[in-house]
Order: sequence, then C-alpha cells, then structure tokens
Amino acid sequence: MKRIDRETVQRILDTADIVEVVSDFVNLKKRGANYIGLCPFHNERTPSFSVSRSKGICKCFSCGKGGSPVNFIMEHEQMSFNEALRYLARKYNIEIKEHEMTEAEREEATEREALMAVNDFALGEFVRNLTSTDDGRDIGLAYFRERGINEQMIERFKLGYSLDRGDALYKEALAKGYDEKHLLTAGLCARSEKTGTVYDRFRGRVMYPVFSVSGRVVAFGGRTLRNDKSVAKYVNSPESVIYHKSRELYGLYQAKQSIVRNDKCILVEGYMDVISMHQAGIENVVASSGTSLTEGQIRLIHRFTDNVTVIYDSDAAGIKASLRGIDMLLAEGMNIKVLLLPDGDDPDSFAQHHSSAEVMEYIEGHETDFIRFKTSILLDDAKNDPIGRARVTNNIIRSIAVIPDAVLRNEYIRECSRMLEVDDRVLVLQMQKVMADNASRPQRPAVNDDDPPRADPIPAKGAADTPPDGPGPDTHAHPQPSVSATVSLYERELLRYIVKYGMVTLIEDDGNPVSVLEYVRAELDADEILFATPLYATIYRKAMAMMDASWSADSVSCRERLDEIYAGEMREGQEEIRLQATDLADIENREKLLRERCDDNYLRRLDEFAVRYLESRLISDPDDGVRRTATDLVAEKYTLSKVHTHYARVATERERLAELVPRAVAELKLGIINDRISHNHLRLKQIADDGELISVLMEQKELFECRAALAKYLGERIVAPPHRS
Ligand code: CTP
Ligand code: MN
Repeated sequence: MKRIDRETVQRILDTADIVEVVSDFVNLKKRGANYIGLCPFHNERTPSFSVSRSKGICKCFSCGKGGSPVNFIMEHEQMSFNEALRYLARKYNIEIKEHEMTEAEREEATEREALMAVNDFALGEFVRNLTSTDDGRDIGLAYFRERGINEQMIERFKLGYSLDRGDALYKEALAKGYDEKHLLTAGLCARSEKTGTVYDRFRGRVMYPVFSVSGRVVAFGGRTLRNDKSVAKYVNSPESVIYHKSRELYGLYQAKQSIVRNDKCILVEGYMDVISMHQAGIENVVASSGTSLTEGQIRLIHRFTDNVTVIYDSDAAGIKASLRGIDMLLAEGMNIKVLLLPDGDDPDSFAQHHSSAEVMEYIEGHETDFIRFKTSILLDDAKNDPIGRARVTNNIIRSIAVIPDAVLRNEYIRECSRMLEVDDRVLVLQMQKVMADNASRPQRPAVNDDDPPRADPIPAKGAADTPPDGPGPDTHAHPQPSVSATVSLYERELLRYIVKYGMVTLIEDDGNPVSVLEYVRAELDADEILFATPLYATIYRKAMAMMDASWSADSVSCRERLDEIYAGEMREGQEEIRLQATDLADIENREKLLRERCDDNYLRRLDEFAVRYLESRLISDPDDGVRRTATDLVAEKYTLSKVHTHYARVATERERLAELVPRAVAELKLGIINDRISHNHLRLKQIADDGELISVLMEQKELFECRAALAKYLGERIVAPPHRS
C-alpha cells in the first residue's frame, strides 16, 4: 500500500472543484448561489441535491448524503479515501508523489505486497483446480452442486478447491518463484512439527476467499468435506499484516453496492449463508464469520448504511450470545432490526428452499426492532419471577442508555415501560444513572452485566481524551455527569464556530491577534472542560493539531503569495493610471483609490484563507465520522443563537464573532453546570453518609452561584444590541 504524501493530498483537495466533480455524475442547474440536481444516492423526482461551490460541499436535503469532493467520490463510487484521492488526482492531472516511507513502513509495505501476491497466486490455483482438474470437479464442484450453488455464485465469490496432495500448492508456488517465508506467513502452507516438511494447510478443502472491501484477497476459509468430528470444519488464514479478522466482513466486497442502494445491511453468520442469499437475489448480505461483531466491523458497515438487520437461526443459545454485540451497534447510532428464521432453518437453507420473492417477503414481514425483540425474549425467560424481571429491566435499560439519539431513547423508554409494566419515570431515572456511570468510565459504555468478557477487547476510545493526570480518587467523588442532549448541542454549536472560523482573529490581546480557536482553548482549559461527545472531542483535537503544527507556516506562505498578488495589482493599476490620468492631482487621487482597493482585496483574501483553513481540511479528513460531522457543521445554518434573526440584516455571523463565540462558550458552561446540578440532585436522594452529603451540598451551592453568574452574563448579552465596531 503506497501512501500519498501530505502535500499532494492538499493539492488535490485545493484543486478539486465540487461543482465539476459532481457534474460528472449529476445534471446540475444553477439556482442562486448554488447548484441543484437530482440526488444520486436515492430515487427522487424533485431535486434536493444541492452543491455549493464556495463551501466546497454538496448535500442532499432529503437523504443527507454528500460532503466534500473526496466524500462524494467515496460514496458514489464506493471507494476508499485513498482511492478517491487518486481518482481526483487523475481527473485533475495531478501527479502523485508517493510519500517517502520510513524503513519500517517500507518493510511492512513489502510484506503486504508479498502476502497479497501469494494469496492472489493461491486464489488462481484454487479457482482453476475446481473446474480444470478431475479431483476439483469430482469432489469440490460436486460439493457445491450438491449444496445448490450455481455457476454465477461460484464465479462471483471465486470459490475454489485445494487439491488433496500433500504439498502440490507449495511446490507449484516455489516453482513460480514465491518465497517459502510468505507462504508460511500467509498460512497457505505450514511446517510439520514432527517431520519438518512443509505441507498445504488447506489440502482437500473447498475454498472461500475473503476479500477486503476494495477487492483484494486477504484470507481464505477452507471447509472440510469429511464428516469426521475430529477434523476441524474450517481452517482459516491466520492474522497477518494483510488480515485482521476483526476488521473484515465476509461478502462486503460483493455486497457494498447493494447495501448502499437498499440503505440496509443484512448480517448473517457463515460463508454459505451469504452465498445462498446472493443466489436468491438478496445481495446486501455480509457475514461476521461465526464470531461476535467487533467495533471495526461495525465501522465498516457504518460506512455504507445506518441500518442493520441481524438474522438468527432460531437457536436460543446463539441468540443470547450475540445480543451483547448488538449494544455496540446501538452505541454507534445504528438502527438495528432482528429477524428470526423458522425452526430448523438457517439463512442458507431458508434461501435455498424459498423463492427470492418469498425470502424478501419473509424479511419484510418478520424483522422486528432490536430493543423490542430483546425485551420479549428476555421476558420469556423471566416469566413471573420478580428478581428475574428486575434483571431484565436492568439489562434492557443498559441497551437503551447507549443510544446516542435522545428522542429515540425516550421512545424506547415508553415502549419498554409498556412491555415491562414499569412506570416510565422509574425507567428514566434508572437510565440516567446508567448514563452517568457510563460517562464516568473511560471505557466505552455498552457492556451489559450478564455478559461474558469479550473475545475482542475494545480499546478504550475515550482514553486519549481524559486529562493526563488520569482519573484520581477525586474523580470518583465527582463523577463526570453523562453528556445530556443539551450539552451535546452546545458542544456542537461551539464546534461549528471552530470548524468555520477557527483561524479567524477574534480579538486583539495587547496588539496580538487571538484566533477563535485560541480563545476557545484558553476558555475551556481554564475551567478544565473537555468535549464530552467523543466525535466532537476528536474534531477539536484535530483542529488544535492543525493550528499548532501547520497554521503558522501556511499562513506565512499565504501572506507571501498575497504580497505578490498585491504588488502585481498595484503595478497594473499604476500603468493604467499613467495611461488615463489627466494631471497630477488626478494621478494622486486615482492612486489613493487603487491602494484602497488593493488593501481591501488583500485583507479579503487573507480572511478567506483563514476562514477556509480548518474547514477545508476537516471536510476532507480521512476519518469518516470527522468528515461527516464537519460537513454537516459547515452546511448548517444557525442552530442555537436565537438573537441572530433579529439582527441578521445588520451584521453577518462572521462580523459578530466577537459576540457570538464568547456566548457559545458561556452557553456550554451553563449547560455543563445544569447537568452537574441535576446529577447531584439525584445523588442527594441516595447518599447515606453525612460527610458525603455535606460535600455534595457545598458543591451544589457553588454550582448555583456559577449558574447565576453565567445566566446574568447571557441574559445581558441577549438584551444588548449587537456589538459593532
Ligand atoms: N467458522 C470457523 N471455524 C469453524 C466453524 C465456523 O471459522 N470451525 C466460521 C465460518 O466462517 C463459518 C461460520 O463460522 O462460515 C459459521 O459456522 P457454521 O454455521 O458452523 O458453518 P456454515 O458456514 O454454516 O457452514 P456449512 O453450512 O457449510 O456447514
Ligand atoms: Mn450452514
């Protein structure tokens, strides 16, 4: 894998024109300052796809898809970030300089290439064996036939057969010049401990290649054809630099277009389930390959859709085991449905025994919402046992508590209150407690009580965001309250100013310009406030990293460029004046006007550069979440500043930053204080210990004072006329 160097990436991003890029796929008409057309991501008759050249983004106001040029190409062409950059580079004839790799990177790249190459070679062999050797036809192909798999599926999934001759593949590979080392690392061959000889690991098995999302063979699964219990049913490729099991999904390469088209991903367990569903015409299907879902796999699905339907065979143990993986999907903000197949069926047998219309009909008619599903199966178990019911309630509440969307959470609370026959106010209180606990833990929430430990531990995502001192004993006494929806909104609003105007000068401090981002950083640091919403924290961190790492150098070179432009404009203008002027006074007068015009241009361009600096980078960030949110923020109009509408005619947002940004900071602080107050309020009801009681009461008093001061400040700001200078 070659990386594109930073400078080239920036050049591509600077050059790509959103209107031109989109126009290759969508018919655009000019409407006002923007362009508009039919959205390419969903079917529509009236255009709701809008493209803004000045902002550098496109967005569908109906389905929400869109973004920067890179984002558009990624979505539309189903490409990775790097592939999209290469696409744009080709379009604009930008030469890609591969970045100079370090020694370690070069070694890894070489190893990756080598492993991909042996896998490519093996794939060719397996595929060829299946149809061009007697054994392949009689054993492998016969097996697939017997399982009802047709030729198109064999071709689409590149199914194959590994000959049952000790080291046939090994010999052939060596003859073709492949390295033994790479054959061993890729797990195609292994060395016998007893004899020391090398043999083919997959011999005598039918082969299912595993493709990465961009279509490279990263691994194989080989299924035995024997019914012998002492033989492993599947042999799989080991983990290597090209294969991380927890980051791949079987079938995604073949399914991704259909997932996008249907805006839904169906999740099954095994290779054959995916293939039989495809054969039945249902192509938006992927398999987790028998393990519970990992966060990496969820991210992968989330690139293509928000909607997942999990299919279970009606085996109770299997269902219970996988319930916990699903809390992670919920925490990612995905909509989950669950489908139970009739007794004795798995997706493979079901798809084989029904017409494609029947399968689709069954899915549509039987998929149920996950929380409802979980509640009902757990309740079935608990029946009339009150303690059991309390455990169930607790378990369900934990699932609901991780859902990021507050409206959705409340809907579920209402529904579960009905199903569990528990007052919804009780459920709300319980949920708030869980949310507070989750937030005070540096770990991701989503861990349910009765769950066994995960096979794939999830790295503590928030860890990088916790203050360097780490949570001391004090943190326990003052657990950081969960992010309420309100605080999250205030965070978003403040972040919007950062993304859109971060590098713009907000105020002068002793003659030194202080940018919006510098101001916000100083304010938040002073009160030790961190963005609590993880994605916002990431964006904030990235923005600061850009400011600290590259802004000063970049703005110096921008000034140099602008100086040149300034000089050029002055020269041209003066020449013109010399040709046109009638007398000396006229020359002086015209030159004064010229200088003013050039000064204005200079300042306007400098300002544009500062305004675009963070946003143009963030809307093209390699991280999906960052890119999506930054795009939304750039596209967004005012959300919270109610004052705006009164003065919109007087001054633009840009001109009122000196008033709006401090206000957004104060609103966030007020929101956090309010959260903390209501959190303490809950705690006060439960505290038994006098000492603790007093300390909480004192904290409350302090919080009330802060709240009063902030409310006063904000109140005054509301009635004050807009600040103009
Ligand atoms: N699996 C595995 N190793 C095993 C068993 C299972 O890697 N020893 C994975 C495979 O990816 C398999 C999935 O778990 O596809 C589901 O397992 P299972 O239901 O046992 O296999 P099927 O795919 O249904 O295979 P078949 O229908 O051919 O029996
Ligand atoms: Mn099966």
